[in-house]
Amino acid sequence: MSAETPRDGRHWSAYNDAQAGRPPRPLCRQVLAHAGAGDGRLAVDLGCGSGIETAAMVEAGWRVFATDADPAAPTRVASLVGPEAPVEVVVAGFEQVQLPRADLVYAGYALPFVPPSHFADVWRKVREALRPGGWLAVDLLGDRDSWAGQRSMTFLDRESLDDLLHGLEVVALEEEDEDGRSFSGPKHWHVFHVIARRPR
Ligand SMILES: C[S@@+](CC[C@H](N)C(=O)[O-])C[C@H]1O[C@@H](n2cnc3c(N)ncnc32)[C@H](O)[C@@H]1O
Repeated sequence: MSAETPRDGRHWSAYNDAQAGRPPRPLCRQVLAHAGAGDGRLAVDLGCGSGIETAAMVEAGWRVFATDADPAAPTRVASLVGPEAPVEVVVAGFEQVQLPRADLVYAGYALPFVPPSHFADVWRKVREALRPGGWLAVDLLGDRDSWAGQRSMTFLDRESLDDLLHGLEVVALEEEDEDGRSFSGPKHWHVFHVIARRPR
């Protein structure tokens, strides 16, 4: 694994600590706008990291099941939402966690860190978690990303992405393909930002 690739636990703690103070990610804000007020519906924040998007969901009226392998995730979430907030935080790997059925599943820059050998199982779990009419918002890395080739991560060509989304109503699909920066340094980003919906 190259020093560029953010995989080990210490890296994730440093990464998630460094997120403090940023606004909720655009994909999260977009899917919350599409889905409307939570009204107590259940959302999943898969790879909740800093908890910023979890807090945005609570603010929008959702109950939230937040999960991440980073052991500090519960503390971070608790620091952003009140003690009475309708949030459950579970520290677990994507490969092990049991997801509840939900009206919204958000996975921000998280699923690419599932290795190809486990990706199909995790993706099946994500799709099975969606209730009819449920919203999915996910960032997936494309095959022109400069991290592509890392065997511990999953990268998709456009055809594979279309296969993954088969049977869902794709509401928005933005393809980013440009040089930029990551927490680890300069990189080329090839990212599919997807909002989709399970048909009713
Ligand atoms: C790039 S961060 C994104 C975090 C947050 N969603 C955000 O947008 O800032 C990836 C997150 O996924 C978590 N993660 C990576 N691989 C994981 C795995 N296999 N199981 C559970 N969590 C994982 C990391 O701990 C980290 O918090």
